[in-house]
Amino acid sequence: MYIGDRVLLRWKQGKLSKRKLTRPLREDGDTVIDNHNIKHAEIIGQESDVRLQKVSKDGLRKLNVFARHPSLDDFTSLSPRRVAPIYATYASAIVSLLDIHAEPPSAENDPETTGGPSFQILEAGTGHGSLTLQLSRAIAAANPPAGKEVRPEPSKKTVYKGGDESDGPIDEPESDALIAWRKQRRAVVHTVDIDPLNRAHADTLIRSFRGAVYWPHINFYAGDVKDWIHQRTTSTDQKPFLDIVILDMPGVEEYISSVVDSMKDGGQLLVFVPQITQIATCVQEIATKDLGLKLQKVVELGDGISNGRLWDVRMATLRNPKMAKGVANDSGSSLEDSAAENQPVEVTSSASTSPSIGTIPPMVCRPLVGELTRGGGFVGLWKRMAGTNSEQVKAS
Ligand SMILES: C[S@@+](CC[C@H](N)C(=O)[O-])C[C@H]1O[C@@H](n2cnc3c(N)ncnc32)[C@H](O)[C@@H]1O
Repeated sequence: MYIGDRVLLRWKQGKLSKRKLTRPLREDGDTVIDNHNIKHAEIIGQESDVRLQKVSKDGLRKLNVFARHPSLDDFTSLSPRRVAPIYATYASAIVSLLDIHAEPPSAENDPETTGGPSFQILEAGTGHGSLTLQLSRAIAAANPPAGKEVRPEPSKKTVYKGGDESDGPIDEPESDALIAWRKQRRAVVHTVDIDPLNRAHADTLIRSFRGAVYWPHINFYAGDVKDWIHQRTTSTDQKPFLDIVILDMPGVEEYISSVVDSMKDGGQLLVFVPQITQIATCVQEIATKDLGLKLQKVVELGDGISNGRLWDVRMATLRNPKMAKGVANDSGSSLEDSAAENQPVEVTSSASTSPSIGTIPPMVCRPLVGELTRGGGFVGLWKRMAGTNSEQVKAS
């Protein structure tokens, strides 16, 4: 365990198992637990899962404390937060839905010949950095090994609460080794947060996870994601360059049209929202603006839904064309129910086609299996269809 790491301490108080994440380890630092002082110097340089035996001041009680690298789950839930994180299990389910397969570095994906990283993810917003960490883990194998020489110095700041802690953490000069390594990256996670303090906090947290092992694969930015896209597409004559766009922030539907033209053909758009109705709003936005995105899946993530629950969200097609001017009857029985109920099927959505002029089709919006549970959130996953870039559409 290294200087700068946040380390998990575990001990027992009576029958209670207790856990605490340390501040980033410092040579002269310490962490107090149940009146026992744990000196960071006892942990630095040790392998994970070291036992530190402490004796109480009166010498009568012994406390066995174990120090180890936290799991991603422990790290996300126990680290100081400025915004609610995506819990590690949900973040991991999201990454698995994206089905990312990192190609190891080769001459074929050498950025000197391809003109930049061949696999690029945009995430907005960064928030706690929980999903950022997992995305970075998923792509890390595509890049040359990120050894100690390219890892950052531990940040002097530990948390960003505002006030006098608001000064930039991360404006330290970068090492030549890091600058050179970055040019060799095949894959990168760009993560953008409108709040500079959230950006700073996430950057600092990710530095404190296991010797900053995932930090070099990430570029952090502060600003509005629309401005980020605008800057990237106007400053360089950029062709669509994003393989994956993830929107996890309020009002996601307002941002879809801004990012879509920067997505490669076949690129994936994923939104994570607290309410199923927000997925429905995205479906409508994509259909009415004809954004060329095809809905792949709608999945609910929550406690007790191990792999997520599939939902059917689409613009309904009407069996009776006479009803096209209105909405469904009271029972909703006129809606075309093409997806078999209670079957975990992939949604083939009519939402990728525009509604006919003059009609506002009602939405189908229901779980495909099981009963409704609370908590978690909803994931909508779309794929960019080939030849739907607005420039191409204008030209045709
Ligand atoms: C729910 S949090 C994201 C949680 C995060 N994905 C995680 O894994 O912990 C939403 C974040 O979106 C940011 N945000 C809101 N509007 C934004 C915008 N227009 N551009 C970029 N970030 C934005 C907020 O500052 C906030 O940090």
